[in-house]
Amino acid sequence: MENTAQYKILDLFGNEQIVLITKAKAPTNLFSDYDGFLEKFELKKTTDDCYTPKEAMDIIVNYVNENYPLKNKKIIRPFYPDGDFESIDYTDDMVVIDNPPFSIVTKICKFYLEKNIKFFLFCPHLTAFSSDIDCTHIIASADIKYENGAIIKTAFVSNLFGDLKIIGEADLYQKFKILLSRSKANLPKYEYPDNIITVSKVAYCVEKGISFKINKNEAKHYRGLDSQKMHGKALFGSGFIVSDKAAELAAAAAELAAAAAELAAAAARKNKNNNTIVWELSEKERNIIKSLGTDNEM
Ligand SMILES: C[S@@+](CC[C@H](N)C(=O)[O-])C[C@H]1O[C@@H](n2cnc3c(N)ncnc32)[C@H](O)[C@@H]1O
Repeated sequence: MENTAQYKILDLFGNEQIVLITKAKAPTNLFSDYDGFLEKFELKKTTDDCYTPKEAMDIIVNYVNENYPLKNKKIIRPFYPDGDFESIDYTDDMVVIDNPPFSIVTKICKFYLEKNIKFFLFCPHLTAFSSDIDCTHIIASADIKYENGAIIKTAFVSNLFGDLKIIGEADLYQKFKILLSRSKANLPKYEYPDNIITVSKVAYCVEKGISFKINKNEAKHYRGLDSQKMHGKALFGSGFIVSDKAAELAAAAAELAAAAAELAAAAARKNKNNNTIVWELSEKERNIIKSLGTDNEM
């Protein structure tokens, strides 16, 4: 099956259908593609391998549908492991809506623009304007939590919006914000007694500039509280149960750290306005601006 790839067709209700295709490019073999062979065994951690949760996909499909009606269209999702978006037999009724590998998103857009294939694609937020391609950039400042737990600020790029170059989309921002807060709300926050020291407790103090030390004879390695065991839980990454004296010291350090965090936040708010550099437009740039929106573009 080395020479086959798959893509998915999605309907407006979120149902998926898998389509198998034959890759246009010849399969590589172990001798000519040893790096590719090794890569299969690597744990993938890049944005190229972040899978989109259904709830996030639903938001996007609904958004596209509101702006470009998808009735009688086939929603295509070409980007999967061993996929080959260039080998799909695209037809006029297809609209590609998917989260592609971010590292080749410009190449993908160029391919679709050249073949006149309709698309709406996820892309990296910070570098959303870095390629000069003839499409619409949709900035929603959307923090999307992908299946692997990574929260990545995501933008979108599309050729479904005619002459629009940039869309700042507050509605999408709100929808993804609500989705993220719902996923956070579903995660319980654990609080431990002062006598339990976890790595996170120490890290919190250190990051706010507060150091402290606990002697060996004040601490015993501990994997989980009895109250957790009955729920099948434990201390994540283990921790230490410590004497009252050490617990008091750590609690005092945490209080100092919280106060330091407050001060730092207030100072940051104050500094924010004093630290702005204003860049001016040149004569040349003013002339470019004059030419825009008219027929004598430079
Ligand atoms: C960011 S992941 C997203 C996966 C899925 N589309 C989603 O939204 O959950 C991008 C996927 O594209 C796949 N991919 C890489 N190159 C591709 C290509 N040329 N054609 C199709 N898929 C490719 C990667 O293996 C990866 O699984």
